[in-house]
Amino acid sequence: MTTSADRDRRVLEIHERLVEIEQRLIPTGLHVFGRPSIGKERADLLRMIVSFDRPEAGTRALPRLIAEALGLELGSDSPSSEEDLQERERVAAIVDNAIRTFLKHDAETAIAELKTAINLDADEARPIFALLTEVSRQLETNNEIESLLRGLRGEFIEPGPGADIVQNPAILPTGRNTHAINPYSVPSELAFSRARVVADRLLERYQTEHGRFPRAMALVLWGLDNIKTQGEGVAQALWLLGVRPVRDALNRVTQVTAIPLAELQRPRIDVVMTVSGIFRDLFSPTVELLDRAVRLVAQLDEPPELNYVQRNIQEQMLSEQMDFDEAALRVFSNAPGNYGTNVNFMVMDSQWQSDHTLGDLFVTRKCFAYGRDSRGRQIQGREARLAMDRALTRVEATYQNIDTFEIGITAVDHYFEYLGGVSKAVEKRAQVRPAIYLSDSLAREATIRTLSETVQLETRAKTLNPKWYEGMLQHGFRGVAEIENHVSNTFGWSATADAVDDWVYTEVARTFLLDYEMLERLRTLNPHSAHSLVNRLLEASGRGYWEADDETLQRLQEIAGELEDYVEGVA
Ligand code: BEZ
Ligand code: MG
Repeated sequence: MTTSADRDRRVLEIHERLVEIEQRLIPTGLHVFGRPSIGKERADLLRMIVSFDRPEAGTRALPRLIAEALGLELGSDSPSSEEDLQERERVAAIVDNAIRTFLKHDAETAIAELKTAINLDADEARPIFALLTEVSRQLETNNEIESLLRGLRGEFIEPGPGADIVQNPAILPTGRNTHAINPYSVPSELAFSRARVVADRLLERYQTEHGRFPRAMALVLWGLDNIKTQGEGVAQALWLLGVRPVRDALNRVTQVTAIPLAELQRPRIDVVMTVSGIFRDLFSPTVELLDRAVRLVAQLDEPPELNYVQRNIQEQMLSEQMDFDEAALRVFSNAPGNYGTNVNFMVMDSQWQSDHTLGDLFVTRKCFAYGRDSRGRQIQGREARLAMDRALTRVEATYQNIDTFEIGITAVDHYFEYLGGVSKAVEKRAQVRPAIYLSDSLAREATIRTLSETVQLETRAKTLNPKWYEGMLQHGFRGVAEIENHVSNTFGWSATADAVDDWVYTEVARTFLLDYEMLERLRTLNPHSAHSLVNRLLEASGRGYWEADDETLQRLQEIAGELEDYVEGVA
């Protein structure tokens, strides 16, 4: 029997899921080159910007200030009672109101309103609205077309940092020449302290689900992400290994030091790092730092049950008769001058028979080791397939740090080519599918989700969300292509990790193809993408990723035939 307490708890859970979807920044259409952001889009951006503490701008999160003024205590991310939930909604409504007043009138009016309504100290609110005024002004400025023309004329374009607006409002105005960062500054102290929280939650999540720590993990590190976060991904790897970056006299991170086990309070986790070609090129000192960290940890005098790096390397040396230098390789990338895994191309072109082909392709492309051997000689992309194979054999969890507010795991094919690719490679080598996790910096306090949870959230927040797809459809031809892209990238997660539930494909079919009016719209705007979309669903069924009923499949076959005729000009 369901008690009323049970019922309340379930309602709270459902509510929490809905809020999670609602709170994601859902792009309501594509960015149009040269066009400033307006209306609701701007309000959404501003609301996201004020929801974080920004020590660099001297501001605190507006929801936090409002809660304090109301004498409320907003705890962790998930509400624990109905009362808690109502308090959160009250705070959110006040934030929305303040932003609306700010956009309609000005900062002082919004500050005065907050003072009158909830007695929020004007001196506390002022820096936040000063930041909003600046951001808002810069959002109105758009130099993209002018800068493009300057670039084409070979003229100077002012440089600017790269990130997304919520992460770092200093990227505005757009249309500047995005610069990288000094690799010796990575990871920054802020990145390291944020990484500790995320990596601890990652281990906590694994422990909750498996009752122990993973023997080894595989991490994906990208260049642009580590530029944007000053090396948060790098710092997570270091923290898992249980080391701290050390700065030299010139303030460059060139060394690491082991955090004592007594302080770490857990085993050192073995990490296999696959870094992108861009990371390898931009962060060559960091690649060496990561390799150095592994070698340092491997040689500490510690009990093997608290030092998985050492235990795994010893095992590898014994069972494979590998020498230490070979068994300690943990940083892998493409061959010098090469980029990408090609797993995405293979999936998009339906060019694989057995799904292990995808994981094998990943290793073929990414088995080039980087670092330095015990004698100090550089290892610069030496093919080390066996070492990578063996290291992946022990991996029990794979992970990628997601730090963007704009691009999700079904928006581009790179997430599944990397995280999906490495997971598939592990599945064959370890003979079991690893636990696959992603972090989410969108949550005020970093959240760890499993891959399936993330796919579900992306599907609800974007692909199947009328607000999202109607926004896309406003862009006509390109919008239909975007919808098709999201579905194909979702399919990529079936191919590499079987992480997509049947209902996702069922609902995609129902929303875009079995609805006659919608099908007509897609066909008129972009019959090619509509055709690809239906074929992708049929492929999902054909490959066993989707159990659809016969009637649905038959209808989809008919639609595929009709679209093909239409595209070929027969009908
Ligand atoms: C990178 O920044 O490393 C990256 C960007 C796009 C795709 C893959 C990797
Ligand atoms: Mg299935």
